[in-house]
Amino acid sequence: MKQRIDDAQIDRLANEPWYVSSRASQKDRFARCLRLLAADGFSPQQILDVGCANGQFSSRLTSLGQTVLGIDINNERILDNQRRFADCDRLRFEQADFLQRPFAAGSLDSITALEVLYYFTPEQQRQFFQKAYECLRPGGRLLVSVNIFFSGHFSEASFLSTVDPRFRQLQADRIYRNYYYRLELPVIEWLDQLNYLEKLRIFSPNILKLERKFYPGIWNELLLRPSGVMDRYLLPGLRRLLLGLIESDPLYHLVTGLTRLVAPESGKSQLIVLLEKAKCEGTW
Ligand SMILES: C[S@@+](CC[C@H](N)C(=O)[O-])C[C@H]1O[C@@H](n2cnc3c(N)ncnc32)[C@H](O)[C@@H]1O
Repeated sequence: MKQRIDDAQIDRLANEPWYVSSRASQKDRFARCLRLLAADGFSPQQILDVGCANGQFSSRLTSLGQTVLGIDINNERILDNQRRFADCDRLRFEQADFLQRPFAAGSLDSITALEVLYYFTPEQQRQFFQKAYECLRPGGRLLVSVNIFFSGHFSEASFLSTVDPRFRQLQADRIYRNYYYRLELPVIEWLDQLNYLEKLRIFSPNILKLERKFYPGIWNELLLRPSGVMDRYLLPGLRRLLLGLIESDPLYHLVTGLTRLVAPESGKSQLIVLLEKAKCEGTW
């Protein structure tokens, strides 16, 4: 019988500075990833968790797979995990670089790599997907998640172009988290004077945090960090809200003269993709 390692145990064992275990958004991310991997009753024997860091997701994977191996290039993390999870005999940790460590072809039921691939160059991402394909058994699944920016070099399209074309994409999920509005500095000051930021907070309780980042130059970011999970349907609403607040002001024309809202193109989301290796060669 599988020995279930529950959330309370994971929280107790967690020893990390990012409060991953206690953050609702992180728990939600892990839960979504587990759900996706388990779709259609997929029940893997061996799972490899690449870039396991503090083992938060690896330990959760024991609810799904019979044995889980977490690897990370960071030896400090691995030693710490080995100590903390010493009692969990279906969970092992090893220091290794996925691109270097040999795995027998077709030996794994499932591979997960959450928030790891943006450490890689596009060429390394290609190598990662090719190698993952070789290591998986036919019908095996690869689950990856990455931060995607709505603009710039790390877009969804450029990331997906590195996926080995032999994979079939089964499902994808997106978690919208940070939403940036770019405003010119005078506008931020103007909004401050008019108490717009306070108004925003009152009108939109979903905004957990409003931050301003100041960079040299004229462009500055107003970062709206929503609480919990940012639904894609909420984003247009937020944009309307901010525009509406600006437009409702009698000095609207002056403000719009200074303002350029860039949204949601400058936002960030997490993309989760579930890929499957062909059950037999040439089936799709
Ligand atoms: C942002 S952490 C993600 C941790 C965890 N997967 C999660 O989603 O919470 C990325 C981890 O990937 C590891 N990593 C980077 N390149 C790697 C490689 N080539 N092989 C194994 N681990 C790697 C890093 O050391 C780091 O601990």
